[in-house]
Amino acid sequence: MAADRSKFSNKFGFIAAAAGSAVGLGNIWKFPFEVGNGGGSAFLIVYLVFCFVLCYPILVTEIAIGRKSQKSAAMAFKPLGHPRWSIVGILGVFCGVLILSFYNIVAGWVLGYFVEMLLGNFDIGKNFGTYIQDIAEVGGYTIAFLIATTYIVSMGVTKGIEKASKLLMPVLLAIIIILTIYAFTLDGASEGIHFYLVPDFSKLNLNVIYRALGQSFFSLSLGLGAMMTYGSYLSSKENIASAGVYITLADVGIAFLAGLMIFPFVFSQGLTPEGGAGLIFITMPGIFETMGPTLGVVIGSLFFLLLAFAALTSTISLMELPVAYMVDKHKIKRKKAVWYSAGIIFLLGIPSMLGNGYSEYFTSFITYVGAEKPVNFMDFVTDVASNTLLPFGGLMVSIFAIYAWKRQKLFKELSVGNPNFTKTFLSRYIAFSLKYICPPILGIIFIITVLEIFFGVKIL
Ligand code: PFF
Repeated sequence: MAADRSKFSNKFGFIAAAAGSAVGLGNIWKFPFEVGNGGGSAFLIVYLVFCFVLCYPILVTEIAIGRKSQKSAAMAFKPLGHPRWSIVGILGVFCGVLILSFYNIVAGWVLGYFVEMLLGNFDIGKNFGTYIQDIAEVGGYTIAFLIATTYIVSMGVTKGIEKASKLLMPVLLAIIIILTIYAFTLDGASEGIHFYLVPDFSKLNLNVIYRALGQSFFSLSLGLGAMMTYGSYLSSKENIASAGVYITLADVGIAFLAGLMIFPFVFSQGLTPEGGAGLIFITMPGIFETMGPTLGVVIGSLFFLLLAFAALTSTISLMELPVAYMVDKHKIKRKKAVWYSAGIIFLLGIPSMLGNGYSEYFTSFITYVGAEKPVNFMDFVTDVASNTLLPFGGLMVSIFAIYAWKRQKLFKELSVGNPNFTKTFLSRYIAFSLKYICPPILGIIFIITVLEIFFGVKIL
């Protein structure tokens, strides 16, 4: 990519693509069920604090590292004069592959649901548990989705992603707003809103904090270099600090709205918010059914189609990680690198696919020391890759920025396209967070969770 490194055409193009990476299944599928499992509003508040206090400064730093180095994640540290830090980028590539291995399967469910909605099969929601065990069907949609991702990435990303994101993100937002308004009119809506918005801090515990942290990094596509890679396609005219604000607001805003949409639906149907990974898949078809056969089919299929597109703009950025690594580092041709990556991602995804009830072994894959119930393979990969390694990647980025690259150089890059940057409040905010908040908080949570969750050592 280096020689013909393409650029986003303007700030809006970059923001749309980066927000497209950020906004995905994480906001509309994962966020609501994490909120449901984490006790509602308590989770929401911790998540929001993490997004603004920790994630925004790290987001801006990742973009700056990418733009300065003009390289993708694994290669970005070398041109900045710190080749040893490349290990952080390589870890990010590994993480991206792991995340994509299960993300792609959920995207396959979305594609399958799109077809079921088109056919007017609203009962699919009640049959979610059996649907995801249908390996032939789920496997087929998963492969279809992977091929779509592979195709776009093999074409070179800029035009495809930028165009698609600019068009689809606003439509997705519009449909969520319409569904949220509809949700508010339903019986039981106020109970849902209460669960979502009225804080109950008695629900706060280490696990909620751990999951909220993982969710904030996952949701903003941070800690694995995806934003570095996108930053490397950003022109020097653009103001990174303000682009970062828009990306964060778009991401958090859509997740927040998704919660406002889903909890009234959940309560209006007499379901429980702890529905787990199936929450939207179980709830939404029933809601579309209440809209009547024609409108239900139109809105239902549109909803899952747009969700599939939101997922696609995220899978593209995940796939770009191993592909750019193979191209930059091992000089493999882009087209080949894309297919190699797709093969590895598909194979790694098989245990996640089987772990939804089809194979007992992968369904009850591991019981953490001291935990009551085993988790399935997909949850295990989520815990390792997204809840643990992403915040760890963020920790490394903050340490790198302050102690290796140094604040002056970071600020110099952030001033490109924004000459007054050092005089702004944001510059002080970013510097303070990177130095005094990110390393201690991320470091402490990382150590405690690894010891407690994976090794059963009781600390708190
Ligand atoms: N941010 C995406 C989502 O919320 O669905 C997931 C994701 C994409 C995570 C890209 C990490 C990444 F690099």
